[in-house]
Formats: sequence, structure tokens, C-alpha cells
Amino acid sequence: MVTEPGPAVPRHVAIVMDGNGRWANKRLMPRVVGHKFGVDALVNIIHASAARGIEYLTVFAFSSENWKRPQDEVSGLMNLVMVAVSKYLARMAEDGVRIRIIGDRSQVSEKVRAAWDHAETLTAGNRRITVSVAFNYGGRWDVVQACRRAMEAGLSPAELDEQVLSRYMSLSYAPDPDLFIRTGGEVRISNFLLWQTAYTELYFTDCLWPDFDERALDAALADYARRDRRFGRVKTDVDAGGQPRALPVAD
Ligand code: IPE
Ligand code: IPE
Ligand code: MG
Repeated sequence: MVTEPGPAVPRHVAIVMDGNGRWANKRLMPRVVGHKFGVDALVNIIHASAARGIEYLTVFAFSSENWKRPQDEVSGLMNLVMVAVSKYLARMAEDGVRIRIIGDRSQVSEKVRAAWDHAETLTAGNRRITVSVAFNYGGRWDVVQACRRAMEAGLSPAELDEQVLSRYMSLSYAPDPDLFIRTGGEVRISNFLLWQTAYTELYFTDCLWPDFDERALDAALADYARRDRRFGRVKTDVDAGGQPRALPVAD
């Protein structure tokens, strides 16, 4: 049987935006300048992703482990949240972008929380692309908070299965990522989406995040389009939505 390839454009792309510090170091500038240019790259990639028909974009902006960085870098990153929201939110809202934040909000300052709340509220009705910003996020934290909430909801051990737990994960509103991109040359997950990337295609590039432009995105998408997603099966057998399709029953 001739099978169709999966869809050329992934529905959900997840990105570890790494390499800002090295980008700045190469230019003899403070690391926080790299983060500032990183925000510009992100805004560009959000609009480019929407234009390419990507429905969900999830980006790693601040990990649970990034608190271990020098205090001035951490506060620089926190300040950047407020700057980015006031500078770019209006245009994103106009472009149909819905912003969601995933991560532990209880540990961030009131100011940062207010900026994220504002971004989510203002864009709640948009559906062109959903951009989930992982902030104070860790993949292990996500699994633990999902279990905790499931227990709080009174679920018995027998009621818990993969589908049920997925409803408590922070990306419960999105399909699992089709494509994971990490810039900056490191070949690791760094505690990003552990649960959700079970069958995600992985793509690593040496490009430093502030340099990641539309051409770099297209190179990643072209690489993805050549992948054969088998989901444990023997050969390509996915439907137009990228989901595994039941094999025809032989008679
Ligand atoms: C990624 O860039 C952004 C954050 C972790 C906030 P880095 O700051 O990790 O940049 P490098 O890896 O040191 O170059
Ligand atoms: C991952 O990058 C986190 C973000 C991009 C926000 P890191 O730079 O923190 O990852 P490691 O320390 O190299 O694993
Ligand atoms: Mg890094």
C-alpha cells in the first residue's frame, strides 16, 4: 500500500531558544544584550510561524534551573518580560497571536506575573497561532504539578492513565509538539517538555538564537518535512493531521 507522507508543516513547534549569552560574548557585550536581541528574534519567528500555518509555538524562555545564574542576569531577564510585553504585545494581538504562559508562576515577582496576566488576557480571544511561553518551567515540575492536581481532583489510582494525566499537563490545550528545535549547538533537552516530546522530531542547530531568522526556520521545517514519522509502526502511516492512522484490516 502506498502511504501518504505526513503534513509538510508541523502543527506544533517547540523551541529551546539557546545561545543568547554566547551571541553577546562574541560581540563583547553583556549577556543581557543577547537576551534583548533574543526577544527580537522571537517576535520575528512568531510572525513567521503564523504566516507558515504553524498553529502552536512553544518556546523555552526561562527554566526552573535558570535561577542559578548571576543575580544581575536573572533580574535583567525579568525586566525584559515587562519591556517585551509593553513593546510587542499590541502588534501580536493584532496579528491574531494568543499568548499562554506555562510554568510555576508562584515563584515570580508580582510585576512579572502582572505582565504575563495582561498578555494572556489581551490575547485570549485570538486563534491564528497560540504561543506558549515556558517561564520558570521545568518538564519534571510539569509532571509533578499534573499529578498533584489530579490527586486534588480526587482521582483514584485506577482512574489515572496517560490520557487523563495529559489533561492536567500545562500544555493540555495543544497537541504534542511535532518538531522540537534547539539552537545554540547543545544537544540536550535541559528539562523542557519531557512528557510531551515522546514522539516529537528533534532538530538541533549551531545557529545562536538571536541569529535564528526565517531562513533558519525554513531550514528546520524542510528537514522536518523529510522525516518519516512511524510512531512505533513499520512504515509511514499518518493522516493529514500528522496523527497515526489505523492500518486497513486485511480481509
Ligand atoms: C538562552 O540563552 C536564554 C536563556 C536561558 C534565558 P543562554 O543565556 O543560555 O545563552 P548561552 O547558552 O549562555 O549562550
Ligand atoms: C535552556 O537553556 C533554557 C532556555 C533556553 C530558557 P540553558 O542554557 O539554560 O541550558 P543548559 O544549561 O545549557 O542545559
Ligand atoms: Mg544556554
